[in-house]
Amino acid sequence: MSQQSVLPGSTGAEPVSGSGSGESASGRTSRLLRQASLRPVALWLFGLCLMIFMMVVIGGVTRLTGSGLSMVEWKPLLGWLPPISESEWVAAFRKYKLFPEYALRNAGMTLAEFKGIFWLEYIHRLWGRLIGVAFLLPFLWFWMRGRITRRIAPRLVLFFVLGAAQGVLGWWMVKSGLVDRPDVSQYRLVAHLGLAVLIYALMFWTALRLWDGDGEGNPAPGWILSLTTVVLVMVALTMVSGGFVAGLDAGLTYNTFPLMDGRWVPPAAWRNGLIDTFTDVTTVQFNHRLLAGVTFVLVVATYCFSFFVGTRGKVRIARHLVFAAALVQVIVGIATLMMQVPVPLAALHQAGALALLTAVMWMLYLLRKGDPLKAQFRART
Ligand code: HEM
Repeated sequence: MSQQSVLPGSTGAEPVSGSGSGESASGRTSRLLRQASLRPVALWLFGLCLMIFMMVVIGGVTRLTGSGLSMVEWKPLLGWLPPISESEWVAAFRKYKLFPEYALRNAGMTLAEFKGIFWLEYIHRLWGRLIGVAFLLPFLWFWMRGRITRRIAPRLVLFFVLGAAQGVLGWWMVKSGLVDRPDVSQYRLVAHLGLAVLIYALMFWTALRLWDGDGEGNPAPGWILSLTTVVLVMVALTMVSGGFVAGLDAGLTYNTFPLMDGRWVPPAAWRNGLIDTFTDVTTVQFNHRLLAGVTFVLVVATYCFSFFVGTRGKVRIARHLVFAAALVQVIVGIATLMMQVPVPLAALHQAGALALLTAVMWMLYLLRKGDPLKAQFRART
């Protein structure tokens, strides 16, 4: 999609102007005024992105500490109040005891221990509600003040719908762990994580565009744009495969690196065919290593190529950030695996995935938007 087509507040008939184009002084003034009026909206969306980022990490810690199945009911409107009196706690604990997690994993658990696991899931759900409020109230305020243009409104409505769907998806995931086995379905976990990341990414991209307004330069050369787009896709795929590792607890086995069972490709992978890609711990872990490795190689390639081209300004910062985030992410991933998934490291690994995604998106945004890069590239070749 071209930048012009989704620009907020733009009539579509106006020329997209940039430095060096024939923009008149009054055109430039009105563009800057429009941009200034949209920056608070952009800041609001950046704030929401931060809240979603924290939500993903809280969700990860909830899962890693075995707290995710402690609330066996979902009351979207009234459930924001935790049990307060002792009798309410006893009632909540009694309900929890009716489900398999208690019998199969936590038999003999005391009320005090139950309270310990209950809080994280409660905070996770409360944070989700807070995100809803932090979305709705400023939305209404901006709307009443005429800051929500017709072009941006559908996208904001989409965020709201996706956010509500995320709540439903979360409960659907929890429900899968309340029957027979106290483990949630890996497919539902990946869907829940994936939708969170999708909302985050769409919102971040929208905020970047609103922040910058409709000024435009020269997009970077096609090949570097394509390479960075491939990196983005690979990061997304690696994250999805990481969701399967988490969903199947596949990080608790093959705790060696780089070899698995003394081999580069473990003999047990794909024993049952392609379905193992989603169901077998060996295959799932191998895939995650492979995708992460390819992603890292591509990041290094992008880093080196853009170094050769000679980036400047924000693109240079983004390039360093992408490289650093990928390096840290791979190191933390290996440490998480070798140490058998300690909660702090695993949570850091989850946060690192989002940080890497953010850095790659920022770089891609800058390259698409325009940078001296293209001019420099032409000058050198
Ligand atoms: C580009 C690099 C990488 C990305 C973007 C990435 C992303 C992710 C994501 C999103 C998860 C799911 C986290 C969750 O839902 O809790 C995950 C889990 C995991 N990753 Fe990675 N990862 C990368 C590299 C690696 C590497 C190199 C290793 C080790 C060889 C690794 C090992 C693991 C393990 C063991 C888990 C499961 C942790 C848990 O159970 O919470 N990752 N990864």
